[in-house]
Amino acid sequence: MKKIGLITSGGDCSGMNACIRSAVRTALRMKIEVVGFRKGYLGLMKGDEIPLDSKAVSGIMHRGGTFLQTARSPEFRTLEGQKKAVEMLKEKDIDGLVILGGDGSLSGALALHQLGFPVVGIPASIDNDIPFTDMALGVDTALNNIIYAVDCIKDTASSHARAFVIEVMGRNSGYLASVAAIASGAEYALVPEREFDLSEICQQLRQRFEEGRDNAIIILAEGVAKGEDIANSIKDAIGFETRVTVLGHYQRGGAPTVFDRLLASRLGKSSVEMLVAGNHGVMAGLSCNNIIATPLDEVIRGAKRPQDEMLRLAEVLGI
Ligand code: ADP
Ligand code: F6P
Repeated sequence: MKKIGLITSGGDCSGMNACIRSAVRTALRMKIEVVGFRKGYLGLMKGDEIPLDSKAVSGIMHRGGTFLQTARSPEFRTLEGQKKAVEMLKEKDIDGLVILGGDGSLSGALALHQLGFPVVGIPASIDNDIPFTDMALGVDTALNNIIYAVDCIKDTASSHARAFVIEVMGRNSGYLASVAAIASGAEYALVPEREFDLSEICQQLRQRFEEGRDNAIIILAEGVAKGEDIANSIKDAIGFETRVTVLGHYQRGGAPTVFDRLLASRLGKSSVEMLVAGNHGVMAGLSCNNIIATPLDEVIRGAKRPQDEMLRLAEVLGI
């Protein structure tokens, strides 16, 4: 392998820069040239490249987001778009591509592999909904961001004896909500994977307030319900003031945690080593603290249920 390409695609997350840095340094050590394409598959189809030498990736370890930028490209979902990308890669003499992104981006990686182009995927999504990796890049940082915010909100909630509904990301995944509820000591986590009875929750909350509790925190995964609707139901049922905080994209940014910096460095290095070893069409993931390669078609077919253990833990803890 003489030249490899790299893209970050889909939703950004903290640790992407650290991962690019590691992949570039690993490749340069092997005397392999590296280029990045701006804005994921969009830039790849256009050939919008940036040469990545060691200077290009210096000083980026601690920065959230992705300096290569990211995007969503409907065109790349089509076979024409995917062929265009392969043509571009060939035109630029690129022998292999590392793709960082969530399940959508990894489906795109599988499409390129099925067209015969050597790729390795890296799971990067705060939703932690990608199978065959214990953790995806960015999850730990997002959780730490959430916990910081919940702790702050708890202070003001208890000063005013209020109930707060805090909405976190995870359109179809309740991982962030359940883990954040467990780690912040919240009263409830409302997640897509588990049905809940709001009137029962309200009854329990009223009892807690009557027993002298001065605040309540309900972590809501986006997509389950509207925060305002939940808050209004609670207010009507227990009579206490309620407020809603939507954490939104705050969760996705910020300096990566040590865990994410290390995971990024390990995945970046392994992805290049996999490409060079001819281990293509796979995703590099973390399993029992080892970096493993799983075929992308298994990753895309597989269903991650990280919720199972977290939900059991939440249940035992009364969340
Ligand atoms: P994420 O990677 O964070 O899950 P998306 O689901 O938006 O984000 O996917 C990012 C991009 O990956 C899409 O804009 C599209 O270009 C590409 N992509 C998504 N799904 C597929 C698919 N099934 N086949 C080919 N490309 C896809
Ligand atoms: O990266 C995953 C995710 O954070 C989801 O939880 C969320 O619904 C989505 O991205 C929102 O991303 P955007 O606003 O960039 O479309």
